Amino acid sequence: MNAEESVELEQWMFVDEPMDGAEPRVHPAWLPPEAFRSLGARRILLHGEGLLVDTVLHEVSRACARYGGRVWHSPSWDVDVDLVLALRDAGELPNPAVEAARAAGEAALVELGDGAPLGDEGFVLARAGDVTAVLADAPAGLLYGLFHVVRLCAAAFDPARPPERHRPALRRRMLNHWDNVAVHPVMGQVERGYAGGSIFWHDGRPRGDLARVREYGRLLASCGINAISVNNVNVARTEALLLTDRLGDVAEIADVLRPYGIRVHLSVSFAAPVLLGGLPTADPLDETVRVWWAATTRRVYDRIPDFGGYLVKADSEGQPGPFTYGRDHADGANLLAEALAPHGGVVHWRAFVYNHHQDWRDRSTDRARAAYDHFAPLDGRFRTNVVVQVKFGPVDFQTREPVSPVLAAMPATRLAVELQVTQEYTGQQRHVCHLGPWWSEVLRFAPWGPDGRTIADVVTGEVAAGGGMVAVANVGDDLFWTGHPLAQANLYTFGRLAWDPRRDPTAILDEWITLTFPPSATADAELVRRTLHEIMDDSWRTYERYTAPLGVGFMVNPGDHYGPGVDGYEYTRWGTYHFADRDGVGVDRTRASGTGFTGQYPPYWSEVYESPETCPDELLLFFHHVPYGHVLHSGSTVIQHIYDTHFAGVEEVTAMRRAWQTLNGMIDPSVYERVAERLDEQVRCATEWRDQINTYFFRKSGVPDERGRDIY
Ligand code: GCU
Repeated sequence: MNAEESVELEQWMFVDEPMDGAEPRVHPAWLPPEAFRSLGARRILLHGEGLLVDTVLHEVSRACARYGGRVWHSPSWDVDVDLVLALRDAGELPNPAVEAARAAGEAALVELGDGAPLGDEGFVLARAGDVTAVLADAPAGLLYGLFHVVRLCAAAFDPARPPERHRPALRRRMLNHWDNVAVHPVMGQVERGYAGGSIFWHDGRPRGDLARVREYGRLLASCGINAISVNNVNVARTEALLLTDRLGDVAEIADVLRPYGIRVHLSVSFAAPVLLGGLPTADPLDETVRVWWAATTRRVYDRIPDFGGYLVKADSEGQPGPFTYGRDHADGANLLAEALAPHGGVVHWRAFVYNHHQDWRDRSTDRARAAYDHFAPLDGRFRTNVVVQVKFGPVDFQTREPVSPVLAAMPATRLAVELQVTQEYTGQQRHVCHLGPWWSEVLRFAPWGPDGRTIADVVTGEVAAGGGMVAVANVGDDLFWTGHPLAQANLYTFGRLAWDPRRDPTAILDEWITLTFPPSATADAELVRRTLHEIMDDSWRTYERYTAPLGVGFMVNPGDHYGPGVDGYEYTRWGTYHFADRDGVGVDRTRASGTGFTGQYPPYWSEVYESPETCPDELLLFFHHVPYGHVLHSGSTVIQHIYDTHFAGVEEVTAMRRAWQTLNGMIDPSVYERVAERLDEQVRCATEWRDQINTYFFRKSGVPDERGRDIY
């Protein structure tokens, strides 16, 4: 082997990554160069061709240039290596040790495989002798296999490592960006964005920083995400044009993300035929409308051959939809599905439909019922390339809600569950709120009863075809991507759960910690790991403790949804009420005396939720209006529980801040400072929540705190 025969490593270096110790342009999130140390010190052989294989080559070359390893791409001569990444159909290589590792991979496939193919994205990892082999049927599988090796660090080269086979449980693992192209007068550049501007758009135009988009694609691919929509579900005039006149802007993003296996989708306006096509109607049953969508969609595919499809918010919060024409959501979704079908595209049609002009005096209208009432009767009517995208809870991404009954009500429809990575209701990336445990609880929920299928099964499609997992993105043009550096973990966790919804979220968090704060670059790796777990593991429950109690939800400031506003929504049109009076609090959603929402669940949960005796404490006020003296399963009364949890929540946040201070000097000072600032704000805001909630309920109920603490 001589120098000419090896890849010229420098040519693969990313131009935007400083090697001279200068400050990076943007925080590397969970892919700091150090995370590639173990890989980059190895001798690596890559075998196969294709766009994503080139991406793998680029990645390994960059790592090896930094850490002294070497890379070969399908050489025709004998080389000794530590790692081979190979497409299974790429032909033989003239090295017996490599061939032995490949054979071990093939054997592992048979052994572990249950006969199912690896598919477009799966891979197998096996060891033979001193060589680790990663085999895949398609280039995307090699890319995911590469990032798996990065996560494993030295363990990927452990002689005793048993073979593994990986395949994503879900075909589509998608992020929705609520990014506006033009700055919205109220919502700004990114609706519900807490990390600065958009990485795609700036003040009416493309932002033009494609290097950053590429970095983003790399982060997403490394945690398994393979689809994104690039504009807000609330589609205004400028954004509507992305479908036609400004399609080139979308194509540019698609070109940059393609090498990382990410397909681009677009939020479209249902009124596009009128807005853009000059037609007098957007009626889904009108022939000219059908022709318009077919022709427009064809043009999209001419420009972006692997375009993913459309995302639609229709007849919801002022967005246009089929109701205008007396049609239903199946008519609307099928219209777009028909246009996309010849090209292999899919429509994500959101089930977030409710009356947002409710009268707070009218207790018979229940926003929680709305999605089910609209969609469950349509089961069986959607085309196979329609995915009905259902928010995980029946109201709106609250810190605690029951799981949406729609997810158990449409067996003949492809359903996706929609999560919110952007922390609209969970501290807006100023508070530490690690959402993995909450999402995992949702995914493990068994709507037909404890031994039945779970939400993970529904979206995976174990019986009918599943629709996957979707989440609202949380990144922006902020230096740390997510405003709060620890909020990066939510994005990472979403991707990993979408790859395998049954995984333990604490193990995922551990992965994120190891990658983001690599032990080899940390003064006391164990302290860092322990402290981050201490701060983050239970942070969602901590957030729940100091905000709206027992599943009642909201109680936030209207509009921006940050900080306490107990009665902020109580007399509004939005349908989010708590009904607190001097005797009690909560929403009666029972069949017996309330809105009947409990009846939307299959019998097991319908019964459990119907009675305050069996309803889980954490959801009590979502389902029942109870007196303050009602005794919870925990043994506490509702009022004392409110006081206790609010005092405890603030103590926990104070402890989080103390714990963080022990990391001063141990980690990147810019990360340390940013988190420290945000923890100060979290302590301030949590204290405000505690005092407002406790005071509110003390004044309403007149019941003093048993422990005589300060209530105002
Ligand atoms: C929430 C959020 C809105 C958003 C909506 C949606 O209500 O506050 O900003 O448009 O969800 O999911 O469409």
